[in-house]
Amino acid sequence: MKKILLLGSGELGKELTISLKRIGCFVITCDAYENAPAMQVSDKYEVFNMLDKEKLKKVINKHKPDFIVPEVEAIETTVLLEAEKSGHNVIPSAKAVNLTMNRDKIRDRAKYLGLKTANFAYAETEEELILEANKIGSKVAIKPVMSSSGKGQSYANSEDELKKSWKLAIEGMRGNRKRVIVEEFIDFDYEITLLTILEKSGKVTFCNPIGHFQKRGDYQYSWQPADCAQDVIIKAQRAAKKIVLDLGGSGIFGVEFFIDKRGEVIFSELSPRPHDTGMVTMFTQNYSQFDIHSRVLLGLPLPEIKINRSGASHVILAEKNAVGEYTIEGIEKALEDKSVDYRIFGKPLLKSYRRMGVVLAPSLDQAKQAAKKISVKSIK
Ligand SMILES: Nc1ncnc2c1ncn2[C@@H]1O[C@H](COP(=O)(O)OP(=O)(O)OP(=O)(O)O)[C@@H](O)[C@H]1O
Ligand SMILES: [Mg+2]
Repeated sequence: MKKILLLGSGELGKELTISLKRIGCFVITCDAYENAPAMQVSDKYEVFNMLDKEKLKKVINKHKPDFIVPEVEAIETTVLLEAEKSGHNVIPSAKAVNLTMNRDKIRDRAKYLGLKTANFAYAETEEELILEANKIGSKVAIKPVMSSSGKGQSYANSEDELKKSWKLAIEGMRGNRKRVIVEEFIDFDYEITLLTILEKSGKVTFCNPIGHFQKRGDYQYSWQPADCAQDVIIKAQRAAKKIVLDLGGSGIFGVEFFIDKRGEVIFSELSPRPHDTGMVTMFTQNYSQFDIHSRVLLGLPLPEIKINRSGASHVILAEKNAVGEYTIEGIEKALEDKSVDYRIFGKPLLKSYRRMGVVLAPSLDQAKQAAKKISVKSIK
């Protein structure tokens, strides 16, 4: 029985654990808090801060896993680089995990590989941010180099807004590196995630592109297949193949692109693991992104991936400023549409706009309608 150490136990980790369990793996899940979603379905769990070098090393040594599988970015990746050197399997590879932990490393790598990106620069002070934004010369997006799900992210068009963005980024950053990426705002037509599968042999395969819509830098809904022109798909596949082969290893990657009105394909960022917008594959594909990641990380042959039907996902969110315990209401109403499916993640507590579940449906309209009927209520 293969032993998997999953670093991060959110909703993506939960579905991945279920997929791994179905094919007979032993899964140990980790996160900073008790009763995280993936912990509820795993064999064992460990609660600790994965940015703590010594603790992470200790957990790896304790369990001696066959595979170390990161599910989040907030991990002390130097430990994973060392672990790989001493013979551990890090998924997809320690290099991929290390380069994607911070936005700057992966963006520099994309540029080095010749991928088309928005114009960008870095800033470590408010003055530097204003200087670099002026050089870019248009509306800009500002993001801490270390953050996810839109935390600390904003847009700015003037010096005043840039000052506010600096403050927001510093408040929203993870870790202690006061560094932001400032990039040209892309007035894109639409954006996609291209789930890209890299097998150990170096073979690269793609899922159908997933369209998605984001608010506050966080995904709200996604659909598959996205309606992309053939040349857009070819350009995106070419770029995704280049970057995943450079990162190496085996697993599924979520490669994000902006598509502008002229059909230009602009690389945005990449996750070396299943992607939140890819939850739609639980509804659309014969094998979900989690099933695929499970098989490929174990080094098993990739089954034929097919899209069985088109579909959409829509998040079920907590309200702004929500805290504490909760109940979820309206599921029965949402299920009056007989083609709707859903997942509730089982997170123990609410937080502002926290993602608590997802609705899956054959069309975006049905997913939106169903999600509207579901509400997350705090227990006062
Ligand atoms: N330069 C930009 N121009 C226009 N929109 C942008 C730009 N950068 C980011 N966005 C918008 O913000 C969203 C989130 O940005 P990004 O993917 O970089 O952050 P994130 O915090 O990693 O999000 P997630 O973890 O949810 O993928 C993008 O999907 C896009 O909608
Ligand atoms: Mg993103």
